[in-house]
Amino acid sequence: MSLLDLPATPGCSWRSSPRRCRPCCSPAPTGALSAEGRSSRRSVRREQRFMTTNANSGFTLWFTGLSGAGKSTLARAIEQRLRARGRNVEVLDGDEVRTHLSKGLGFSREDRDTNIKRIAFVCKLLTRNGVICISAAISPYREAREWARREIGRFVEVYVKCPLEVCRARDVKGLYRLVDEGKIKNFTGVDDPYEEPERPELVIETDRETPEQSVARIFAKLVELGYLEPEFAEETVPAGQAGESLAS
Ligand SMILES: Nc1ncnc2c1ncn2[C@@H]1O[C@H](COP(=O)(O)OP(=O)(O)OP(=O)(O)O)[C@@H](O)[C@H]1O
Ligand SMILES: [Mg+2]
Repeated sequence: MSLLDLPATPGCSWRSSPRRCRPCCSPAPTGALSAEGRSSRRSVRREQRFMTTNANSGFTLWFTGLSGAGKSTLARAIEQRLRARGRNVEVLDGDEVRTHLSKGLGFSREDRDTNIKRIAFVCKLLTRNGVICISAAISPYREAREWARREIGRFVEVYVKCPLEVCRARDVKGLYRLVDEGKIKNFTGVDDPYEEPERPELVIETDRETPEQSVARIFAKLVELGYLEPEFAEETVPAGQAGESLAS
C-alpha cells in the first residue's frame, strides 16, 4: 500500500498531497522510527561522519611554559589515555629531543629556534599521517611557536602557566638550584626570556589545579575543537577526588 492509498483525515489541509499530510492522515507504518529513534539515528550518522573525517586525523598538541610548569607531566598523562583508547600518539619531550634530534644545540635564541623548528617539522610529518603529536618543550619564543602553528595546521597551543616561584619551589630537576648557584646561565624565566602566548587555545594554571583536573580540561577543549570524540570529555574528575597520582 502506498501513501497515496491511505485515507486522509477529514479537514486535513494537505489532502491534495498525502505525502505531506502523513503526520495527521496516516498512522506511522509498522517498524517506522519514532521521533526519538530518528534523532538517535541522526546522531549515530553524525558520529560516523565524525569518525571518518576527524577522529582518525592527527593533530598536534603543543605545550609551552616554564621549566617545572607541568608540560611533561600532562603530556605523559594524555599520551597514556589516548593510547588506552587505541590512538597513535607520539610525545616529543624537550629533554629527549635535546639528546637525539637536537643533540649539540645550545640555548641561544638561534639554537632554541632551531630546536623548535625541528620538533615542529617532525610534528608536521606525523600529524599529516594521522598521529597525535604532543610537544612538551619550553618553546619560549612566540615567533617560533607561530611558525610551528603555520607549518602544522592542525595545532592546539596550551599554555602551561605557573608562576616562576612555584616552579622554583618544585624544582623537579634541581635546575633552579643550579641557577641560584650560578652554575646555569640563560635559564628561561630567570635570565632568558619567556614570551607568553597571546592567543593560546587553552591556558592551564598548574599552581591552581591538580594534574587530573588539567588533563580533563585539555580533553574537554580537544573535544570542543572537534579533534576528539565526545566520549573523551565525559570522564571529568570531580574537584574533591582529584589527587596527584599522575605526577611523574
Ligand atoms: N596541574 C598540574 N599539571 C602538571 N603538573 C603539575 C600540576 N600540579 C602540580 N604539578 C607538578 O609539577 C611538576 C611539573 O614537572 P614537569 O617535569 O612536568 O615540568 P615541565 O614543564 O616538563 O618542566 P621542564 O620544561 O623542565 O621539562 C610535577 O612534579 C607535577 O606533579
Ligand atoms: Mg619536561
